[in-house]
Amino acid sequence: MFSSNDDSLLLQVLKLLKSYNSEYISGQDICDKLKISRTAVWKHIKKIRSLGYKIESKQNLGYRITKSTTLPLPWEITSSLKTKQIGKTVYYFDTIDSTQNFASKISKQNNSGTVIIAQRQTSGKGRLGRKWASPAGGIWLSVILQPKFDVSYATLFPIASSLALGTAIEKILNLKPELKWPNDITINGKKVAGMLVDISIESNQIEHLILGVGINYRVDTKKLNVDLKKSEHFYGADSLLKKNQTPNPTKMIQSFLYELEQICDILDNGNVKSIIKKWTAKSSTIGKKITIDTSESKITGKAVRIDNEGALVISKNGSYHRILVGDVNYLRVR
Ligand code: BTN
Repeated sequence: MFSSNDDSLLLQVLKLLKSYNSEYISGQDICDKLKISRTAVWKHIKKIRSLGYKIESKQNLGYRITKSTTLPLPWEITSSLKTKQIGKTVYYFDTIDSTQNFASKISKQNNSGTVIIAQRQTSGKGRLGRKWASPAGGIWLSVILQPKFDVSYATLFPIASSLALGTAIEKILNLKPELKWPNDITINGKKVAGMLVDISIESNQIEHLILGVGINYRVDTKKLNVDLKKSEHFYGADSLLKKNQTPNPTKMIQSFLYELEQICDILDNGNVKSIIKKWTAKSSTIGKKITIDTSESKITGKAVRIDNEGALVISKNGSYHRILVGDVNYLRVR
């Protein structure tokens, strides 16, 4: 595990190499500056290489970085992050059971804005108790928040967060993602990202919430569909980037965290209408004929709008139904 608060020797060596801006620094200079042995320098260089940084070494000249990593490592995320609070502390795991679990373990401390990222999850969680396939190449992260906004916005929050991610995907990857109620992100009708929120409420106030975000960033789609195919609500999953595209998950995450902070600010100011308007503009759900599966029943009707709490309003035979939790299936219009 790495954290942005780390100040290990490994990071000190990396910082030193970076400060030379692709110029060589001799092994002896690294030893002198950090007061470590040649063997220790060699050990750290090897480890830094294993994190995906390209380091050239030349006799008589020393070492120089020629290429940065493509892994979203904490110090890469925090450098040039444009947020006020979200993402100032970042934890990164190569493999974890679920970032939601880790977030929930540490969420008691006063750590709003902390982000937990994993390269792979062994027990990724989806909405409504489902499994979430989390192979390498995806962006699997959780954000701990202690928001100021009113508890009545708790159900709108995941929807608002999907708007933040949709906006980030559009800006960074130049794609046209659509938002599917409640908080799926799709491209060409296939799911490319989803989110869930674990919330803790105390005396009618949000104590903290943990936003879990799963982005099929650059993944092997065969690995994604294994569990999903078993679900009757599966409508196909896809990867945002194809194999031949160079990943830059750090940029994607930085942009999402920035957009998320904007959304939180809007909710803090109570300007729900603007969120609903923006979500609706990107939504593929509103105006469609749908079937919605709640745990109690299935309703078929037309999706009309979402309300201030993020509930989907459906019209059926002249009456309106308000649904807070469920899965939407689009009906084919012949
Ligand atoms: C959904 O069902 O659409 C929500 C999926 C959320 C998955 C993310 S991946 C990071 C975080 N950790 C988890 O175990 N789940 C969420």
